[in-house]
Amino acid sequence: MVRVSAPGKCILFGEHAVVYGHPAVAVAIDQRLTVSAELSSQWDIDGKPLNAQKHPHVEALKSRMWAHGPPLRVSIQGDIPAGSGLGSSASLSAASASCLRMLRGRYVDANGNWTEGWSSDEPNNVYFGHSKESFGENRLHGWDAVNEDESALLAHAVEASAQGGMASPIDSSTCSHGGCIVAFKEKLPELDWLYTRKLKHEEMERKWELHRLVIPEKLNSIKLVIGHTGIHGSTAKQVEMVRGKIQQNPSLIQVMDAIGQITKRGIEAFLSADPVTLGQSMNENHLLLQGLNVSCPELDALVEAAQLTSFGAKLTGAGGGGCMIALTSDPVETSRAIELAGGRAFISSLGGQGLRCEDDVGSLSWNPYEI
Ligand code: MEV
Repeated sequence: MVRVSAPGKCILFGEHAVVYGHPAVAVAIDQRLTVSAELSSQWDIDGKPLNAQKHPHVEALKSRMWAHGPPLRVSIQGDIPAGSGLGSSASLSAASASCLRMLRGRYVDANGNWTEGWSSDEPNNVYFGHSKESFGENRLHGWDAVNEDESALLAHAVEASAQGGMASPIDSSTCSHGGCIVAFKEKLPELDWLYTRKLKHEEMERKWELHRLVIPEKLNSIKLVIGHTGIHGSTAKQVEMVRGKIQQNPSLIQVMDAIGQITKRGIEAFLSADPVTLGQSMNENHLLLQGLNVSCPELDALVEAAQLTSFGAKLTGAGGGGCMIALTSDPVETSRAIELAGGRAFISSLGGQGLRCEDDVGSLSWNPYEI
């Protein structure tokens, strides 16, 4: 049995615009999903046969990492509501990819090169052993075999295929590494650079540079209050809707540019630990998201209610339902305001822990060339 948990995430700035190469800032939240996996006689998830439509991310990871592997019993637990904009699918994908890697292990050949797993020389690639001969003796297994960068890469790949080919790596990287993550098409010298991610879709290659933003201690007392509308929002549909709108009305690209400018101001406010400018920038970001038509009356009502007791508030994630967030030093009052406006509120700190091993019992369970 192996068990891995991953946090959910909130996008503070730049959702939707990040798909088009503008910057975005996301933080991991305290709410988490835990995935456990063990060998079994048939594939099932939470006691039901694996259904590719219900669990496209697990199905995609299975075909990438476990095509010839024996059946697994998988269970998923946690407190990140699905379709809420809080990264439940990225969290599930990152934790599931890590479980499969723990069970499968990683290999190094006689020359010290990875034949299975991930190498920092090729950060957009995951190697799978090509032949029995290429497998060396040197094998890592269990939690030692897990590499956060690889889990983020695999989670991004399966998110992109579930979203019709278009997904930025902001969710998958935040849910894998935790803390605060910034994605942008260029390297930002004021931040700690992590890696480059590329994605090809309809003959167009997009590129993102991923960075870590270390949250200043002065912001430790500031909390996020998350308000859930209770409405299920589909990221794939929202991303597709925005794409269609831009095709119809190319001037909407200017709204994306404006979101990009606000996000850059938000990054500066973060670095200078200035919650007032952070909050104002969030309010402005929400107005622009309304202009893209990705908000809805229920989200607007919760944002408006929260703005009175917080530095600022906005929808988070793809919109069309799901959640909003408020940055506040008075989380109890802000939660009350959100609940009075009809939302379900919960509180999180800024920048929770990334992937975490919860259990690792007998993970050396499968050698692809021994069955
Ligand atoms: C979803 O959490 C964020 C979006 O920007 C989509 C993406 O980045 O892939 C709406």
